[in-house]
Amino acid sequence: MKPLASRTLNLKQSGIRAVTQMVNEHNGINMGQGICDLPTPDPVKEGAIDAINQNKSIYSYHSGIANLRELTAEKFRTFNNIPCDAEREVMITSGSTGAFVAACLATLEPGDEVIQFEPFYGYHVNLLEVLGFKPVFVPMSDRSWNIDFDALEKAITPKTKAIVVTNPGNPNGKVWTRSELEKLLKMLQKHDLWAYTDEVYEYMIYDENRHLSLASLPGAFERTITISSFSKTFNMTGWRMGSAVGPEPVIEKMGLLSDLIYICPPTPLQHGLSEAFGMPSSYFEDLSEDYDSKRTQFCDALREAGFDFEEPQGAYYVFASFERLHKEFGLNGFENDEAACKKLIEQTGIGSVPGSSFYSDPERGRYYLRFCYAKEQPVLDDACRRLRDFGAKLNS
Ligand SMILES: Cc1ncc(COP(=O)(O)O)c(C=O)c1O
Repeated sequence: MKPLASRTLNLKQSGIRAVTQMVNEHNGINMGQGICDLPTPDPVKEGAIDAINQNKSIYSYHSGIANLRELTAEKFRTFNNIPCDAEREVMITSGSTGAFVAACLATLEPGDEVIQFEPFYGYHVNLLEVLGFKPVFVPMSDRSWNIDFDALEKAITPKTKAIVVTNPGNPNGKVWTRSELEKLLKMLQKHDLWAYTDEVYEYMIYDENRHLSLASLPGAFERTITISSFSKTFNMTGWRMGSAVGPEPVIEKMGLLSDLIYICPPTPLQHGLSEAFGMPSSYFEDLSEDYDSKRTQFCDALREAGFDFEEPQGAYYVFASFERLHKEFGLNGFENDEAACKKLIEQTGIGSVPGSSFYSDPERGRYYLRFCYAKEQPVLDDACRRLRDFGAKLNS
C-alpha cells in the first residue's frame, strides 16, 4: 500500500474512547465527553418528522434554507447585537465545526499562523494542523484564565493571519469581558488579523458574567467570523447544525466551500430547527438556570473530593486541578493527569478527560481533569454522591 497522506500521521482516536470503555467496565458515569444527554425540544423533533413526511428531502441552498437563515439572522441581530443581512452575511452550516473549517479555508493560505489560546478546544487545533495551517499557542494564566496581551503581541508574526476566540471557553468556561474583547480588537486592527469566534455556549453564562460577541463592538464585524451552534442550545449535537455571520465576501466563499465539502446542511433537519425559534424566552432562561444549578451542585461535590478550581463562568465544564490530592493527601495514582483519570474511574466510576489534551505542552495540563456536568439530574446526583464518598475517605 502506498503511504497515507502525511497530514494523517498525527491523527489518532482521542483517549475519550478508552475512558468510555473503562467507565462502562466500572458501571460508572462518563463525565468526560462534552455531549449532553438531555432531550431535543419536541417542536424541533416534530418539525423534522413533518419535513421528512412531506418529502422535504432534496439538497437545499448550500448556506441553508431562506427561512432558517432569516430566523438565524434575527437571532444574531437581537441576541448577539450583530446587525446583519440574512441573505448575504449569514449561513447555516454543518455544525459549528463545518463553519470553522469553511472559515479557515476561506481566509488562510498554507503555512499561515493562527493564534490559539490554551487550554484550547482540541478540534480547533487539530483541524488547523490537518488543513495545513499553523497554530501558535498563547497560554492563559492558570485558574483565573486571564489573557496575557503582552504574550499575545509577542506571538504575532508577519505570518499570523487570525486569532481563535472560544467564548465561553471549553475546557475552562472562560467568558471574555468587554475590556478583554476591546483590547483584542485593537490588536486585530493593529496587525490586520481575522478573528474566528466560537460562541457555541453563548446561552450558558453564569453569575454576573454576560455574553458579548466580539463582532458587536464597533469596527469588529469587518474582521470577525462569528461561529455559533444549535448543538448545545437545543441538545442536538448529532443533528450537525450550526451557523456563521460575517462580512459578505467571506460568507459567500464559505458557502461555496461548504457546497464542495458537504453540499448543504441536512434539509429536513433545517426545517425542524426552524421550529426552535418559536421557543418561548423561558426556554433559554430555564436552560441557563438549570445548568447554573447543576454547576453549583457539581462544583460543591468536586471541592469536597479535594479538587481546586475557579467555578466556570460559562459553558458546562469544570477544568479542575487535583494537585492537592497528590501533594497534600499523598494519594497514589494522582501523579499525572492520565493516571489520575484512570484512578478516579477505579475509585468512583467517574470518567473525565486528562488535562494534557488541552495544551500544546502536556506538562501544563499535568494536574488537570475536565468534567462535563451536562447530565440528567438523577445521573448528576449519582455522580455527586460518588465524589462526596471519595472526599469523605480522604479526610478519614
Ligand atoms: C468549544 C466547542 N466548539 C465547537 C464544538 C462542536 O460544535 P458543533 O456540534 O456545532 O460542531 C464543541 C463541542 O463540544 C465545543 O466544545
